[in-house]
Amino acid sequence: MRVKEGSTKKAKQIALKWIDSNLKGYKTKIKLGLPEYDDRLKNWRIPLFPIQDKTLLIGEIKVDYNLKGIVETTELKLVRSRIDKNNNSRSTQKLKSPSKSKFYPAPISNKVILGDSAKVLEDFPPDTAQLVFTSPPYYNAKPEYSEYVDYVEYLDFIKKIFKRCHSVLSEGRFMVVNISPVLIRRTSRKTSSRRVPIPFDYHRLLVEVGFEFIDDIIWQKPEGAGWNVGRGRRFKADRKPLQYKPVPVTEYVLVYRKKTDKLIDWNLRKHHNLDLIEESKILGEYDVTNIWKIHPGHSKIHPAIFPEALAEKVIRYYSFKDDLVLDPFGGTGTTAISALNLNRRFLMVENEQKYYNYMKERLIKANEENLRIDFDIHEEFNNHVE
Ligand SMILES: C[S@@+](CC[C@H](N)C(=O)[O-])C[C@H]1O[C@@H](n2cnc3c(N)ncnc32)[C@H](O)[C@@H]1O
Repeated sequence: MRVKEGSTKKAKQIALKWIDSNLKGYKTKIKLGLPEYDDRLKNWRIPLFPIQDKTLLIGEIKVDYNLKGIVETTELKLVRSRIDKNNNSRSTQKLKSPSKSKFYPAPISNKVILGDSAKVLEDFPPDTAQLVFTSPPYYNAKPEYSEYVDYVEYLDFIKKIFKRCHSVLSEGRFMVVNISPVLIRRTSRKTSSRRVPIPFDYHRLLVEVGFEFIDDIIWQKPEGAGWNVGRGRRFKADRKPLQYKPVPVTEYVLVYRKKTDKLIDWNLRKHHNLDLIEESKILGEYDVTNIWKIHPGHSKIHPAIFPEALAEKVIRYYSFKDDLVLDPFGGTGTTAISALNLNRRFLMVENEQKYYNYMKERLIKANEENLRIDFDIHEEFNNHVE
């Protein structure tokens, strides 16, 4: 689409009018960013910032492509609380000297919650988690949990949950996501299968919600393990150029950090207990390169789990003992089991009753030290629990 002159001004006017009638009392505290036309969504996206800080994205207003009205906005409640939070942290910054104060995580005990992460995580305060490690649903790869109308809807859903992760994660801490492209099988002989490059779209989502890219680790599965060998069959037989399709044997482990102007050294210096840093040191052998060779996980209960060995590496490298590890797509609870083994706390959210039940069973069995674990059902799930 060719953007007409004056369109950004018009988009801003529509957004301002909306702020006027929906965010009374906050109007003078919000600044609009530059409207940008999104070719994918076919609408205008206008970022919102608090007036004093243009680096802090607090929401977005989407205006339709022919500039007639609002299509969608960030939830009002969230925009308000982000502005309030920003103001509060500014006023406390003036009172306390941040350079001297230590960082204390929120004292939240181990939790497993049956619910939708997009809702559940709204109930938790900032600084709840010191690491997020997760593997989101791989779009519509497995019919068992394919629930998205299309890829755009899927990415919007993932972005919403990444935003929630960002707001509960402590400053400068890590968000690690296991994901890979997925194969969408052909529907007939006249069509071809497609690989959807999810990790590459995730990068944009993660940056937009306020993370900064750190590393791309390749999880390599050993020869023969979990391979989709059918993919290279045609080429193997015919050997004609253009038909070449390698068999995928890797997944990504994407490493991001909650954006801050502080160095990692700041996270180490601010930690409230230097003994815990010492106890969390990774001694002996470690992965020197970004290729990690690990066998895939298998479960009779769940079609897409990651192995404990992967969760253990991530937790060891990117958290300290006693930190809280959040997994918003909990599945069978692999992240929690590894956190338990490594003396970290955990917060797991899962929206499927059968996986929640299994995770609960698994954790009760693994909890040899009888640590406190709260099992909870989020309010909106109370009605349809079996
Ligand atoms: C790839 S699996 C994670 C498996 C997990 N890493 C394991 O090892 O067991 C993704 C999980 O996210 C869950 N899920 C999907 N949407 C969700 C949502 N909105 N809130 C919470 N969980 C969700 C699915 O039911 C599925 O179990």
